[in-house]
Amino acid sequence: MRLSGSLWRNIHARGVPSRYLANMAAQRPCHVTVLGEQYLTDHMTNISPTIVSKLPLKLHTQPSHPLSTLRGLIESHFPSYTHLSSLSPLVTPYQNFDLLSFPKDHPGRSVTDSYYVNKDLMLRTHTSAHEVEVFGRGETKWLLTADVYRRDEIDGSHYPVFHQTEGARIVSANSTGMKEIEEDNERLAAHLEQSSIEIEDVPHLSSTNPCQPAHDPKHTELIAKNLKLSLNSLMLHLFAGRVGATAQNPLKVRWIEATFPWTTPSFEVEVFFRGKWLEILGCGVIYQPTLDNANVSNKLGWAFGLGLERIAMVLYSIPDIRLFWSQDPRFLSQFKQGEITTFKPYSKYPACFKDVSFWLPEGQTLHENDFCDLVRDVAGDVVEDVKLIDDFTHPKTNRKSLCYRINYRSMDRSLSNDEANSLNAQVVSYLRDRFRVEIR
Ligand code: DAH
Repeated sequence: MRLSGSLWRNIHARGVPSRYLANMAAQRPCHVTVLGEQYLTDHMTNISPTIVSKLPLKLHTQPSHPLSTLRGLIESHFPSYTHLSSLSPLVTPYQNFDLLSFPKDHPGRSVTDSYYVNKDLMLRTHTSAHEVEVFGRGETKWLLTADVYRRDEIDGSHYPVFHQTEGARIVSANSTGMKEIEEDNERLAAHLEQSSIEIEDVPHLSSTNPCQPAHDPKHTELIAKNLKLSLNSLMLHLFAGRVGATAQNPLKVRWIEATFPWTTPSFEVEVFFRGKWLEILGCGVIYQPTLDNANVSNKLGWAFGLGLERIAMVLYSIPDIRLFWSQDPRFLSQFKQGEITTFKPYSKYPACFKDVSFWLPEGQTLHENDFCDLVRDVAGDVVEDVKLIDDFTHPKTNRKSLCYRINYRSMDRSLSNDEANSLNAQVVSYLRDRFRVEIR
Protein backbone atom coordinates (compact mmCIF):
# COMPACT_ATOMS: atom_id res chain seq x y z
CA MET A 1 0.00 0.00 0.00
CA ARG A 2 1.28 3.42 -0.92
CA LEU A 3 0.84 6.53 1.17
CA SER A 4 -0.18 9.25 -1.21
CA GLY A 5 2.13 11.93 0.06
CA SER A 6 3.04 11.85 3.68
CA LEU A 7 -0.35 12.45 5.08
CA TRP A 8 -2.21 10.21 7.42
CA ARG A 9 -5.65 10.74 6.02
CA ASN A 10 -4.62 8.72 3.01
CA ILE A 11 -3.98 5.54 4.92
CA HIS A 12 -6.48 2.84 4.10
CA ALA A 13 -7.75 0.16 6.44
CA ARG A 14 -5.66 -3.00 6.46
CA GLY A 15 -6.50 -6.53 5.41
CA VAL A 16 -5.58 -9.61 7.41
CA PRO A 17 -2.45 -8.99 9.53
CA SER A 18 0.63 -10.83 8.42
CA ARG A 19 2.32 -13.50 10.46
CA TYR A 20 5.56 -11.58 10.35
CA LEU A 21 5.64 -10.86 14.06
CA ALA A 22 4.65 -14.37 15.06
CA ASN A 23 7.42 -15.75 12.94
CA MET A 24 9.88 -13.18 14.16
CA ALA A 25 9.03 -13.99 17.79
CA ALA A 26 10.71 -17.37 17.62
CA GLN A 27 13.97 -15.77 16.47
CA ARG A 28 13.74 -12.48 18.34
CA PRO A 29 16.49 -11.59 20.79
CA CYS A 30 15.13 -10.34 24.12
CA HIS A 31 16.98 -7.03 23.88
CA VAL A 32 17.55 -4.49 21.17
CA THR A 33 20.11 -1.68 21.34
CA VAL A 34 18.88 1.65 20.05
CA LEU A 35 21.01 4.81 20.24
CA GLY A 36 23.29 3.15 22.77
CA GLU A 37 20.51 2.02 25.13
CA GLN A 38 19.20 -1.51 25.60
CA TYR A 39 15.46 -2.10 25.45
CA LEU A 40 13.36 -5.18 26.10
CA THR A 41 11.62 -6.55 23.04
CA ASP A 42 8.06 -7.90 22.92
CA HIS A 43 5.34 -8.98 20.48
CA MET A 44 5.32 -5.48 18.90
CA THR A 45 9.06 -5.22 18.21
CA ASN A 46 9.66 -4.75 14.50
CA ILE A 47 12.52 -2.25 14.32
CA SER A 48 15.11 -3.62 11.91
CA PRO A 49 18.93 -3.29 11.91
CA THR A 50 18.78 -1.12 8.78
CA ILE A 51 16.50 1.34 10.54
CA VAL A 52 18.49 1.31 13.80
CA SER A 53 21.58 2.28 11.79
CA LYS A 54 19.87 5.45 10.50
CA LEU A 55 18.98 6.88 13.90
CA PRO A 56 22.29 8.62 14.72
CA LEU A 57 22.74 10.20 11.27
CA LYS A 58 20.44 13.24 11.52
CA LEU A 59 20.97 14.43 7.97
CA HIS A 60 19.13 17.67 8.70
CA THR A 61 22.00 18.74 10.96
CA GLN A 62 24.90 17.70 8.71
CA PRO A 63 26.55 20.87 7.39
CA SER A 64 26.15 21.37 3.61
CA HIS A 65 23.66 18.54 3.27
CA PRO A 66 20.68 19.64 1.13
CA LEU A 67 18.28 18.79 3.97
CA SER A 68 20.26 20.96 6.34
CA THR A 69 20.23 23.89 3.91
CA LEU A 70 16.49 23.50 3.44
CA ARG A 71 16.00 23.46 7.22
CA GLY A 72 18.06 26.67 7.43
CA LEU A 73 16.01 28.27 4.68
CA ILE A 74 12.77 27.53 6.54
CA GLU A 75 14.22 28.70 9.84
CA SER A 76 15.42 31.94 8.28
CA HIS A 77 11.84 32.67 7.28
CA PHE A 78 10.72 32.45 10.91
CA PRO A 79 13.59 34.27 12.67
CA SER A 80 11.66 35.06 15.85
CA TYR A 81 10.66 31.43 16.40
CA THR A 82 12.48 28.94 18.66
CA HIS A 83 14.33 26.48 16.40
CA LEU A 84 14.62 22.90 17.62
CA SER A 85 16.39 20.06 15.82
CA SER A 86 17.72 17.51 18.27
CA LEU A 87 14.78 15.77 19.89
CA SER A 88 15.13 11.99 20.20
CA PRO A 89 13.17 9.94 17.64
CA LEU A 90 12.05 7.56 20.41
CA VAL A 91 8.57 8.44 21.59
CA THR A 92 5.70 6.60 23.21
CA PRO A 93 2.64 5.64 21.15
CA TYR A 94 0.81 7.88 23.62
CA GLN A 95 2.86 10.91 22.44
CA ASN A 96 2.74 9.98 18.78
CA PHE A 97 -1.01 9.23 18.66
CA ASP A 98 -3.12 9.58 21.83
CA LEU A 99 -2.09 13.09 22.86
CA LEU A 100 -3.05 14.15 19.33
CA SER A 101 -6.50 12.51 19.54
CA PHE A 102 -5.83 9.74 17.01
CA PRO A 103 -8.60 7.15 17.25
CA LYS A 104 -7.65 3.85 18.90
CA ASP A 105 -8.17 1.94 15.65
CA HIS A 106 -6.20 4.33 13.42
CA PRO A 107 -4.25 2.25 10.87
CA GLY A 108 -1.11 4.34 11.46
CA ARG A 109 -0.76 2.58 14.82
CA SER A 110 -0.35 -0.86 13.25
CA VAL A 111 2.96 -2.73 13.22
CA THR A 112 2.76 -2.88 9.43
CA ASP A 113 2.88 0.93 9.25
CA SER A 114 5.08 2.04 12.14
CA TYR A 115 8.32 0.92 13.79
CA TYR A 116 8.11 -0.26 17.38
CA VAL A 117 11.00 -0.90 19.78
CA ASN A 118 8.37 -2.57 21.98
CA LYS A 119 4.73 -1.91 22.80
CA ASP A 120 5.63 1.15 24.89
CA LEU A 121 8.20 2.79 22.64
CA MET A 122 8.25 3.59 18.94
CA LEU A 123 9.99 5.74 16.35
CA ARG A 124 8.03 8.95 15.79
CA THR A 125 6.04 8.76 12.57
CA HIS A 126 5.75 12.56 12.37
CA THR A 127 7.13 15.66 14.07
CA SER A 128 3.64 16.41 15.41
CA ALA A 129 4.51 13.78 18.05
CA HIS A 130 6.37 16.57 19.92
CA GLU A 131 3.66 19.22 19.83
CA VAL A 132 2.35 18.64 23.34
CA GLU A 133 5.86 18.43 24.78
CA VAL A 134 7.04 21.66 23.14
CA PHE A 135 3.90 23.62 24.01
CA GLY A 136 4.22 22.17 27.52
CA ARG A 137 7.66 23.81 27.80
CA GLY A 138 6.00 27.16 27.31
CA GLU A 139 7.04 27.70 23.68
CA THR A 140 4.55 29.81 21.72
CA LYS A 141 6.32 30.20 18.34
CA TRP A 142 8.52 27.32 17.33
CA LEU A 143 9.92 25.17 14.52
CA LEU A 144 11.09 21.61 15.01
CA THR A 145 12.98 19.64 12.36
CA ALA A 146 13.55 15.91 12.75
CA ASP A 147 13.87 12.50 11.15
CA VAL A 148 10.60 10.53 11.08
CA TYR A 149 10.00 6.84 10.39
CA ARG A 150 7.29 4.99 8.49
CA ARG A 151 7.22 1.50 7.07
CA ASP A 152 6.70 1.68 3.35
CA GLU A 153 7.28 0.15 -0.03
CA ILE A 154 10.48 0.74 -1.98
CA ASP A 155 10.80 3.11 -4.92
CA GLY A 156 12.52 6.33 -6.00
CA SER A 157 10.40 8.63 -3.86
CA HIS A 158 9.70 6.59 -0.71
CA TYR A 159 12.14 5.75 2.04
CA PRO A 160 11.34 4.48 5.55
CA VAL A 161 13.13 7.47 7.08
CA PHE A 162 12.45 11.01 6.00
CA HIS A 163 12.51 14.48 7.52
CA GLN A 164 9.84 16.92 8.54
CA THR A 165 9.65 20.44 9.89
CA GLU A 166 6.83 21.17 12.28
CA GLY A 167 5.92 24.78 12.92
CA ALA A 168 3.44 26.28 15.35
CA ARG A 169 2.26 29.57 16.75
CA ILE A 170 -0.15 30.21 19.60
CA VAL A 171 -1.42 33.51 21.00
CA SER A 172 -3.70 34.58 23.84
CA ALA A 173 -7.36 33.97 23.14
CA ASN A 174 -8.27 37.59 23.92
CA SER A 175 -8.18 41.01 22.29
CA THR A 176 -4.41 41.37 22.83
CA GLY A 177 -3.70 38.08 21.05
CA MET A 178 -6.10 38.91 18.25
CA LYS A 179 -4.59 42.36 17.78
CA GLU A 180 -1.16 40.78 17.41
CA ILE A 181 -2.55 38.45 14.74
CA GLU A 182 -4.41 41.22 12.92
CA GLU A 183 -1.30 43.37 12.69
CA ASP A 184 0.74 40.46 11.45
CA ASN A 185 -1.95 39.64 8.88
CA GLU A 186 -1.81 43.17 7.51
CA ARG A 187 1.97 43.06 7.21
CA LEU A 188 1.97 39.66 5.49
CA ALA A 189 -0.89 40.55 3.14
CA ALA A 190 0.95 43.71 2.03
CA HIS A 191 4.08 41.68 1.30
CA LEU A 192 2.18 39.03 -0.66
CA GLU A 193 0.30 41.64 -2.68
CA GLN A 194 3.58 42.87 -4.10
CA SER A 195 4.77 39.38 -4.97
CA SER A 196 4.17 37.22 -7.96
CA ILE A 197 2.00 34.52 -6.43
CA GLU A 198 -1.36 33.11 -7.48
CA ILE A 199 -3.33 31.51 -4.67
CA GLU A 200 -6.26 29.17 -5.07
CA ASP A 201 -7.97 29.36 -1.70
CA VAL A 202 -10.76 27.59 0.20
CA PRO A 203 -12.90 29.23 2.91
CA HIS A 204 -11.26 29.48 6.34
CA LEU A 205 -14.32 27.71 7.75
CA SER A 206 -17.02 25.56 6.16
CA SER A 207 -19.53 22.92 7.19
CA THR A 208 -17.00 20.24 6.24
CA ASN A 209 -14.09 22.08 7.87
CA PRO A 210 -15.70 23.53 10.97
CA CYS A 211 -14.71 25.76 13.85
CA GLN A 212 -14.12 24.01 17.19
CA PRO A 213 -16.83 24.30 19.86
CA ALA A 214 -14.31 25.91 22.22
CA HIS A 215 -13.50 28.70 19.76
CA ASP A 216 -15.04 31.99 18.76
CA PRO A 217 -15.44 31.71 14.94
CA LYS A 218 -14.04 35.25 14.56
CA HIS A 219 -10.86 34.21 16.35
CA THR A 220 -10.59 31.04 14.27
CA GLU A 221 -10.96 33.06 11.06
CA LEU A 222 -8.11 35.35 12.08
CA ILE A 223 -5.88 32.44 13.07
CA ALA A 224 -6.65 30.52 9.85
CA LYS A 225 -5.89 33.65 7.86
CA ASN A 226 -2.59 34.08 9.69
CA LEU A 227 -1.75 30.44 9.00
CA LYS A 228 -2.47 30.86 5.30
CA LEU A 229 -0.57 34.14 4.97
CA SER A 230 2.43 32.76 6.89
CA LEU A 231 2.61 29.64 4.75
CA ASN A 232 1.97 31.39 1.43
CA SER A 233 4.86 33.64 2.26
CA LEU A 234 7.00 30.60 3.20
CA MET A 235 6.17 29.03 -0.19
CA LEU A 236 7.27 32.23 -1.87
CA HIS A 237 10.48 32.21 0.15
CA LEU A 238 11.21 28.57 -0.81
CA PHE A 239 10.07 28.40 -4.41
CA ALA A 240 9.82 31.82 -6.02
CA GLY A 241 12.87 32.75 -8.03
CA ARG A 242 13.73 29.07 -8.19
CA VAL A 243 10.74 27.99 -10.23
CA GLY A 244 11.06 30.89 -12.61
CA ALA A 245 8.07 32.75 -11.15
CA THR A 246 7.58 36.07 -12.94
CA ALA A 247 4.79 38.61 -13.20
CA GLN A 248 3.47 36.75 -16.26
CA ASN A 249 4.08 33.36 -14.74
CA PRO A 250 3.42 33.57 -10.99
CA LEU A 251 4.10 30.91 -8.37
CA LYS A 252 0.90 28.86 -8.06
CA VAL A 253 -0.18 27.69 -4.61
CA ARG A 254 -3.43 25.93 -3.83
CA TRP A 255 -5.21 25.25 -0.56
CA ILE A 256 -7.34 22.15 -0.04
CA GLU A 257 -9.58 21.16 2.86
CA ALA A 258 -8.16 18.28 4.88
CA THR A 259 -8.73 16.32 8.08
CA PHE A 260 -6.26 15.69 10.88
CA PRO A 261 -7.18 14.40 14.33
CA TRP A 262 -5.41 17.28 16.10
CA THR A 263 -6.56 20.27 14.01
CA THR A 264 -9.79 21.79 12.76
CA PRO A 265 -10.23 23.49 10.39
CA SER A 266 -7.45 21.62 8.55
CA PHE A 267 -5.80 22.19 5.18
CA GLU A 268 -3.21 20.88 2.77
CA VAL A 269 -1.04 23.02 0.55
CA GLU A 270 0.14 22.15 -2.94
CA VAL A 271 2.56 24.02 -5.20
CA PHE A 272 2.54 23.81 -9.00
CA PHE A 273 5.99 22.86 -10.16
CA ARG A 274 7.20 21.53 -13.52
CA GLY A 275 3.69 20.80 -14.70
CA LYS A 276 2.54 18.98 -11.55
CA TRP A 277 0.81 19.83 -8.27
CA LEU A 278 3.19 18.89 -5.50
CA GLU A 279 1.80 18.08 -2.06
CA ILE A 280 3.86 20.14 0.37
CA LEU A 281 2.32 20.23 3.81
CA GLY A 282 -0.57 19.65 6.18
CA CYS A 283 -1.76 22.22 8.71
CA GLY A 284 -4.65 23.60 10.67
CA VAL A 285 -5.99 25.36 13.72
CA ILE A 286 -4.82 23.33 16.72
CA TYR A 287 -7.51 21.20 18.32
CA GLN A 288 -8.03 22.55 21.82
CA PRO A 289 -7.57 19.18 23.63
CA THR A 290 -4.00 19.15 22.23
CA LEU A 291 -3.24 22.40 24.05
CA ASP A 292 -5.12 21.17 27.14
CA ASN A 293 -2.83 18.13 27.14
CA ALA A 294 0.11 20.55 27.26
CA ASN A 295 -1.49 22.49 30.14
CA VAL A 296 -1.75 25.58 27.97
CA SER A 297 -4.87 27.53 28.78
CA ASN A 298 -6.56 30.54 27.19
CA LYS A 299 -4.52 30.30 24.02
CA LEU A 300 -5.19 29.22 20.45
CA GLY A 301 -3.15 28.92 17.30
CA TRP A 302 -2.05 27.01 14.26
CA ALA A 303 0.42 24.23 13.38
CA PHE A 304 1.85 22.82 10.19
CA GLY A 305 4.05 19.87 9.20
CA LEU A 306 6.08 19.80 6.01
CA GLY A 307 8.13 17.01 4.38
CA LEU A 308 11.67 18.08 3.51
CA GLU A 309 12.79 15.41 1.02
CA ARG A 310 10.03 16.09 -1.41
CA ILE A 311 10.83 19.81 -1.50
CA ALA A 312 14.59 19.23 -1.64
CA MET A 313 14.21 16.75 -4.51
CA VAL A 314 12.44 19.46 -6.48
CA LEU A 315 14.67 22.38 -5.54
CA TYR A 316 17.93 20.50 -6.12
CA SER A 317 16.67 18.21 -8.94
CA ILE A 318 17.63 15.13 -6.91
CA PRO A 319 16.08 12.21 -8.80
CA ASP A 320 16.14 9.42 -6.17
CA ILE A 321 15.38 9.69 -2.46
CA ARG A 322 18.19 7.22 -1.60
CA LEU A 323 20.73 9.83 -2.68
CA PHE A 324 20.13 11.84 0.51
CA TRP A 325 21.75 8.94 2.39
CA SER A 326 24.74 8.62 0.05
CA GLN A 327 28.19 9.05 1.56
CA ASP A 328 29.71 9.25 -1.92
CA PRO A 329 31.86 12.40 -2.25
CA ARG A 330 30.51 12.78 -5.79
CA PHE A 331 27.16 13.50 -4.13
CA LEU A 332 28.18 15.29 -0.94
CA SER A 333 30.85 17.54 -2.46
CA GLN A 334 28.28 19.11 -4.78
CA PHE A 335 26.60 21.04 -1.98
CA LYS A 336 27.42 24.05 0.18
CA GLN A 337 25.52 25.11 3.29
CA GLY A 338 22.96 27.77 2.45
CA GLU A 339 23.13 27.33 -1.31
CA ILE A 340 20.58 25.63 -3.52
CA THR A 341 22.23 24.28 -6.64
CA THR A 342 21.13 21.82 -9.31
CA PHE A 343 22.38 18.30 -8.66
CA LYS A 344 24.53 16.91 -11.46
CA PRO A 345 23.99 13.15 -11.76
CA TYR A 346 27.39 11.47 -11.85
CA SER A 347 26.24 8.26 -13.40
CA LYS A 348 23.36 5.90 -13.75
CA TYR A 349 24.51 2.32 -13.34
CA PRO A 350 22.66 -0.55 -14.99
CA ALA A 351 19.58 -2.02 -13.33
CA CYS A 352 19.54 -5.69 -12.41
CA PHE A 353 16.06 -7.21 -12.08
CA LYS A 354 15.49 -10.40 -10.10
CA ASP A 355 12.14 -12.07 -9.49
CA VAL A 356 11.24 -13.86 -6.28
CA SER A 357 8.22 -16.09 -6.56
CA PHE A 358 6.84 -18.15 -3.69
CA TRP A 359 3.86 -19.88 -2.05
CA LEU A 360 2.85 -18.73 1.42
CA PRO A 361 1.94 -21.36 4.00
CA GLU A 362 -1.80 -22.06 4.12
CA GLY A 363 -3.88 -19.23 5.59
CA GLN A 364 -0.88 -16.90 5.80
CA THR A 365 -0.54 -13.43 4.29
CA LEU A 366 2.54 -11.26 3.87
CA HIS A 367 2.32 -7.50 4.09
CA GLU A 368 4.27 -5.70 1.38
CA ASN A 369 6.00 -3.54 4.00
CA ASP A 370 7.27 -6.71 5.72
CA PHE A 371 8.70 -7.93 2.44
CA CYS A 372 10.31 -4.54 1.76
CA ASP A 373 11.94 -4.37 5.21
CA LEU A 374 13.37 -7.83 4.66
CA VAL A 375 14.81 -6.77 1.30
CA ARG A 376 16.29 -3.63 2.88
CA ASP A 377 17.90 -5.70 5.64
CA VAL A 378 19.66 -7.74 2.94
CA ALA A 379 20.45 -5.18 0.26
CA GLY A 380 20.18 -1.75 1.93
CA ASP A 381 20.23 1.13 -0.52
CA VAL A 382 21.32 -1.13 -3.39
CA VAL A 383 17.65 -1.87 -3.94
CA GLU A 384 15.97 0.76 -6.06
CA ASP A 385 12.50 -0.60 -6.50
CA VAL A 386 10.29 -3.52 -5.42
CA LYS A 387 7.11 -4.32 -7.34
CA LEU A 388 4.48 -6.99 -6.82
CA ILE A 389 4.04 -8.45 -10.29
CA ASP A 390 1.84 -11.44 -9.52
CA ASP A 391 -0.64 -12.23 -6.76
CA PHE A 392 -2.50 -15.51 -7.15
CA THR A 393 -4.76 -17.51 -4.81
CA HIS A 394 -5.26 -21.15 -5.74
CA PRO A 395 -9.03 -21.67 -6.16
CA LYS A 396 -8.99 -25.14 -4.60
CA THR A 397 -6.36 -25.00 -1.86
CA ASN A 398 -6.80 -21.27 -1.12
CA ARG A 399 -3.04 -20.98 -0.88
CA LYS A 400 -1.54 -17.70 -1.95
CA SER A 401 1.40 -17.22 -4.26
CA LEU A 402 3.24 -13.93 -4.75
CA CYS A 403 5.90 -12.78 -7.17
CA TYR A 404 7.98 -9.69 -6.48
CA ARG A 405 10.35 -8.08 -8.97
CA ILE A 406 13.36 -6.50 -7.24
CA ASN A 407 15.48 -3.95 -9.05
CA TYR A 408 19.03 -4.02 -7.66
CA ARG A 409 20.93 -0.91 -8.72
CA SER A 410 23.61 0.86 -6.79
CA MET A 411 23.78 4.64 -7.04
CA ASP A 412 27.53 4.65 -6.55
CA ARG A 413 28.93 1.77 -8.59
CA SER A 414 28.20 -0.92 -11.12
CA LEU A 415 26.75 -4.05 -9.56
CA SER A 416 27.80 -7.40 -11.01
CA ASN A 417 25.17 -9.98 -11.87
CA ASP A 418 26.86 -12.36 -9.39
CA GLU A 419 26.48 -9.81 -6.62
CA ALA A 420 22.79 -9.30 -7.42
CA ASN A 421 22.30 -13.08 -7.53
CA SER A 422 23.91 -13.47 -4.18
CA LEU A 423 21.78 -10.69 -2.62
CA ASN A 424 18.71 -12.29 -4.13
CA ALA A 425 19.68 -15.70 -2.77
CA GLN A 426 19.90 -14.13 0.67
CA VAL A 427 16.44 -12.59 0.27
CA VAL A 428 15.13 -16.05 -0.60
CA SER A 429 16.80 -17.64 2.39
CA TYR A 430 15.45 -14.95 4.81
CA LEU A 431 12.00 -15.45 3.31
CA ARG A 432 12.17 -19.17 3.96
CA ASP A 433 13.38 -18.69 7.53
CA ARG A 434 11.05 -15.89 8.56
CA PHE A 435 7.87 -16.76 6.69
CA ARG A 436 8.25 -20.48 5.93
CA VAL A 437 7.48 -19.82 2.27
CA GLU A 438 7.94 -22.36 -0.49
CA ILE A 439 9.97 -20.95 -3.37
CA ARG A 440 8.44 -21.60 -6.80
N1 DAH B 1 1.93 15.34 10.90
C1 DAH B 1 1.26 15.41 9.62
C2 DAH B 1 1.86 14.33 8.69
O1 DAH B 1 2.91 13.84 8.94
C3 DAH B 1 1.40 16.78 9.01
C4 DAH B 1 0.65 17.83 9.77
C5 DAH B 1 -0.66 18.06 9.47
C6 DAH B 1 1.26 18.54 10.80
C7 DAH B 1 -1.37 19.02 10.18
C8 DAH B 1 0.54 19.51 11.51
C9 DAH B 1 -0.78 19.74 11.19
O2 DAH B 1 1.05 20.21 12.51
O3 DAH B 1 -1.44 20.69 11.89
O4 DAH B 1 1.27 13.99 7.75
